[in-house]
Amino acid sequence: MKSLKMNNEENLENISNEISLCTKCALCKSAIQAVPGSGNPNTKIVFIGEAPGFYEDQLGLSFVGRSGKLLDFLLGQIKLNRNDVWIGNIIKHRPPENRDPSPEEIKICKSFLTRQLDVINPKIIITLGRFSMNYFLPDAVISKAHGKTHQVGRFVIYPLYHPAAGLRNPNMKLQLIEDFLKIPDIIEMTNLI
Ligand code: URA
Repeated sequence: MKSLKMNNEENLENISNEISLCTKCALCKSAIQAVPGSGNPNTKIVFIGEAPGFYEDQLGLSFVGRSGKLLDFLLGQIKLNRNDVWIGNIIKHRPPENRDPSPEEIKICKSFLTRQLDVINPKIIITLGRFSMNYFLPDAVISKAHGKTHQVGRFVIYPLYHPAAGLRNPNMKLQLIEDFLKIPDIIEMTNLI
């Protein structure tokens, strides 16, 4: 009998294949390729960003550009790395010129992330930026909700500012670091490790 671990990997792979073939919105026409998400399929901690940028579009992997380098640094600060977590986005194809995703595009793409989270079944979802936060907390305002946990169904949602905001604004970067350093306590509270 196949192990549960293998099932998670295979199930995510099947969803990734569907995402790669998706033509439900126009983003697939301007993007080079889909970026379904990557990392540990059996983790209890996932990070969800907004949409692929230039480098993610080139490589088909989430958070591999400048924002990704900052995310790697922040993960290192709490003794985690990419193999410990899963990293995805709410939108799977790069919006042209990195523009904000439209409400229609978010709606069309929504079921992919829902299915990915059903497979992974994380305990903690760390959202990066307001689009990802509003996917789980539609009425939240990031300046108030960041750095605090919010129970949504079976998930603990922990909103953070987007790393790109941290790269643009030194105060945001300090806030991002401060919020990130609370993650180990949240993991402990959630009895994950
Ligand atoms: N920004 C995002 O929101 N996601 C990525 O994958 C890269 C940059």
